[in-house]
Amino acid sequence: MVSLLIFNILQDKDSNITQYPSLKFLISGVIVKDVGLKDLEGNIETHKIKFYDPIYEKEKKYRGFELRDVLQLGFGDEWKNSDYTDIAFEALDGYVAVSSISKLKEPGGYIVFSDLDFEQWEPISIKEVSPGPFYLVWTGKDKTTKNEYPWPWQLSSINLIKFEDQYSPVFPSGVSQNSSVYKGYEIFKGRCVRCHSMNGEGGKVGPDLNAPQSIVTYRNAYMIKEFIKHPSQYRYTQMPDHLDLSDQALDNIIAYFNYMNDIRD
Ligand code: HEC
Repeated sequence: MVSLLIFNILQDKDSNITQYPSLKFLISGVIVKDVGLKDLEGNIETHKIKFYDPIYEKEKKYRGFELRDVLQLGFGDEWKNSDYTDIAFEALDGYVAVSSISKLKEPGGYIVFSDLDFEQWEPISIKEVSPGPFYLVWTGKDKTTKNEYPWPWQLSSINLIKFEDQYSPVFPSGVSQNSSVYKGYEIFKGRCVRCHSMNGEGGKVGPDLNAPQSIVTYRNAYMIKEFIKHPSQYRYTQMPDHLDLSDQALDNIIAYFNYMNDIRD
């Protein structure tokens, strides 16, 4: 009820044409709100922030909103409801970064909408695209993508989900949460699914690791572990090194791959 009220206030009185740029809010894939930048600015405090941006590899200044304020505006208290486990941030080009809500509750996340060093936006990544209209950044040195904080640019929608429902082909159903399969799944969900799919569901930057054949059927476990830990030693690749993963963590990932291979229909 409360969210409906906010929705009405945010709708433009004389027209229902959506303002551009706007952020879409979805719950389990269904749109609940579409809020234009003007209305975001009218309802949430804006902040000027300055920090070392690891994507640009230099200090940057932006204007933006605290992530928590944006989530509160979009979802009301619903985003704190324990029925939901994750948020999927979707970019204009279809890139999706999924992050657990416990991470997103931490301070330091900002959705920025203006690059204060540049008239428009400074081009980002090897593709030299504009990161606007919205770019999710984190202040604080350790809040990197590798540590499972999402940094999507060209952000267009924010989807509140229960991960195992929305990404059921990735989920190892039927195992207990303290099994090594489940622990491997948690690593996969946190670090790998933004680039890799399982059974067709997930990121499209790297190959599917379970379909049509599981990686464990054509590579031995030792080689898979070596590759995950240190891909840059074998190839020039977009896949980052994961030198911080322990042998146990890598074994858990293999256990997860084996399990997903076993239950595949
Ligand atoms: C930024 C994107 C990205 C991330 C994150 C990523 N990968 Fe990859 N991965 C790739 C790409 C691209 C390839 C394709 C082959 C290549 O470039 O070497 C790949 C290849 C692989 C392969 C296949 C190697 C082969 O050819 O036999 C495995 C296994 C793999 N990744 C596992 C993982 C795991 C496990 C994680 C998480 C801990 C992960 N990747 C994270 C992009 C990524």
